[in-house]
Amino acid sequence: MNDFFLIYAHRGASATHPENTMPAFAAALRQGATGIELDVQLTRDGELVVFHDWSLKRIFGKPGHIRDYTLAELRRFDAGRWFDSRFAGISIPTLNDVLDRAAAKSIMLNIELKNFFSFANGIEQKVSEAIARHNLQDQTVISTFNPLSLELLQQTGCGADTAFLYFGHLREAWRYAHEYNCAYLHPPVHEVTESFVEACREHDIKIVPYQVNTLPEITRMIELGTDGIITSQPTLAHRLLHGE
Ligand code: G3P
Ligand code: CA
Repeated sequence: MNDFFLIYAHRGASATHPENTMPAFAAALRQGATGIELDVQLTRDGELVVFHDWSLKRIFGKPGHIRDYTLAELRRFDAGRWFDSRFAGISIPTLNDVLDRAAAKSIMLNIELKNFFSFANGIEQKVSEAIARHNLQDQTVISTFNPLSLELLQQTGCGADTAFLYFGHLREAWRYAHEYNCAYLHPPVHEVTESFVEACREHDIKIVPYQVNTLPEITRMIELGTDGIITSQPTLAHRLLHGE
């Protein structure tokens, strides 16, 4: 097993709290996560907000997309009530809200750019500048499903590591991580086998799989020696690793 096994809480403590909100991120650390995974998009007025879906329907019950609204408009919507009325009144966080909090703690950040279908909107530069302003380069990995975005991230000279994130069924995926100068590969958990881990090691690529949510899957990743996991069950992962 690795000396330091990363436990990223997927969208914060999303099993127990409304995803991608400040209470979900705080809870993730209480549950034993060593880092948080969060999704970032641009608003109509160019602000970076933390939100997973393109559509506002599931979380806010509103029409349209994040890019159709200003930050001020989005802040008026309730990001907690959809999950449970106990969380009513929470608003969408900005990336700065999260970075301000992270700068005061030694947690790892996995910032996923939600830009698979949007091109050249400048999100790479803005995220890089925000990380540099907070001096969080050493605690941050920027991931995206969009390879063009990985190239643009290199040009920003941000200094944070990047991760090649993919949906699966990609032959020799580690080659893409190498090609795009990524320190990390973020595969779906079902792709990860002993030979997969060996090949990544040979190419000096670190592996942090996602959708690692069950006891057998978490155990398998620890035993295979991945560098960490992205999970909605940080408590379970922490217990398995530390026996508490
Ligand atoms: O980090 C990988 C994972 O978060 C990607 O899937 O849809 O939950 O953002 P999604
Ligand atoms: Ca994500």
